[in-house]
Amino acid sequence: YFPAVPKSHRRKSGREERKTMAVTFTTEQQRAIDLHGCNILVSAAAGSGKTAVLVERIVQMVCNERNPVDIDRLLIVTFTNAAAAEMRERIAAGISKRLAEHPESEHIQKQATLLHNAQITTIDSFCLFLLRNHFNEIGLDPAFRIADEGEIKLMQQEVLAELIEDSYASGNEAFRFCVEYFCPGGKESVLEQYILKLSRYAASFPWPQRWLEKRKDDYSTSSVEEMCGSPYALYLTEHLHRMISGCVEKLARVRSLCEEPDGPYMYGELVEAELEQLEGLMACTSLEEYAVKLPAVKFGRLPSRKDDSVSVLKRELAKDMRAGVKDSIGEMEEKFFATTLELAARQSRECRAPVGTLIDLVLDFDRRMLEKKQDRKVIDFSDMEHFALDILLDADGEEIRPSAVAKEYRQHFAEILTDEYQDSNL
Ligand SMILES: Nc1ncnc2c1ncn2[C@@H]1O[C@H](COP(=O)(O)OP(=O)(O)OP(=O)(O)O)[C@@H](O)[C@H]1O
Ligand SMILES: [Mg+2]
Repeated sequence: YFPAVPKSHRRKSGREERKTMAVTFTTEQQRAIDLHGCNILVSAAAGSGKTAVLVERIVQMVCNERNPVDIDRLLIVTFTNAAAAEMRERIAAGISKRLAEHPESEHIQKQATLLHNAQITTIDSFCLFLLRNHFNEIGLDPAFRIADEGEIKLMQQEVLAELIEDSYASGNEAFRFCVEYFCPGGKESVLEQYILKLSRYAASFPWPQRWLEKRKDDYSTSSVEEMCGSPYALYLTEHLHRMISGCVEKLARVRSLCEEPDGPYMYGELVEAELEQLEGLMACTSLEEYAVKLPAVKFGRLPSRKDDSVSVLKRELAKDMRAGVKDSIGEMEEKFFATTLELAARQSRECRAPVGTLIDLVLDFDRRMLEKKQDRKVIDFSDMEHFALDILLDADGEEIRPSAVAKEYRQHFAEILTDEYQDSNL
């Protein structure tokens, strides 16, 4: 972590500026530039110099005379094409500057030339690069093109219509029940929306089919106790704990505000009592406990007493922050505990069969889409990522190993550097 560079210290952007002015990096930044032989994750405020550090790290590695790494042996990934273009420009500027300092260095001259071939790219473009170079590994037709969104939407509508029609024609009882269950008034369009939504969501996981199959088990519990021990209940418990701990932190800051000399002291007592209740909630370890204790939390009315010695700003801030906490707790109650756990367990049992059918429909939909796309020799953006994974990984049941191709790239690339890591779904 490094703190934000004060605005007054920041260089203005612009090509000229970048070329001429030198930056004195902070100790933390310098560490992130120099550290080698391990994985590094840099987490720092917006505008604090993360990209600058990444660029400097790259320039130092490729211009280093003692242990040189050629620029085309680095895989440099960022989130948008514009960011990749800017990164290339910033690296070029860094290399030019080094070359101006050491005009005789053949190694640095070479880097300037290699820069054109360097992998400074978005994740999508890198995936596409893999597909173009290794289509044969996954039986992809080399004549493939990327379909545009409108084309995919049309194909989806066609496939959905065929799927629903075939399911009706098959006379499958489970399908009829699924339609009845999910579509009030028998409107299949609701079911179609669910299929599309689930298909899209599943595609954000590395192995969508596996993820979908596992979801069938989410509704396999038969009692409240069993439901509370299920993976999603445990996930929810953890989520509630995190949310409430955020609320406690926020309300504690409100209490500190109330204690400041010109703070809204009149709120102090109430806030203290509310904070105690929330701290009590933090001790909950199961969904059953939360179901009892969360709805029991009571917020009072803030005293409206006026006092001119109190800062208006602090009073408003305290009010706003407390209202935020109150809303969050209210939302959690409404979202997760509007139905009793008994009813939730019963509903979960009841929806098991239709959810299973829905998931089978999604799997069938994905299969049909894949076939249609293969017929037309097109791929979409999600295919691009999944096909790239197929190229890089050998999955044998639960065991997943790097493929021969991945091992080749491991040999080739000295390092992978990712900017805007938080935006990727890695
Ligand atoms: N130690 C430093 N001294 C002076 N200027 C610096 C320092 N570190 C970074 N800068 C400058 O601050 C500006 C912002 O840096 P940069 O774009 O690298 O930040 P960032 O953390 O990547 O921002 P974002 O969160 O928007 O991606 C740049 O002009 C950069 O040169
Ligand atoms: Mg940046």
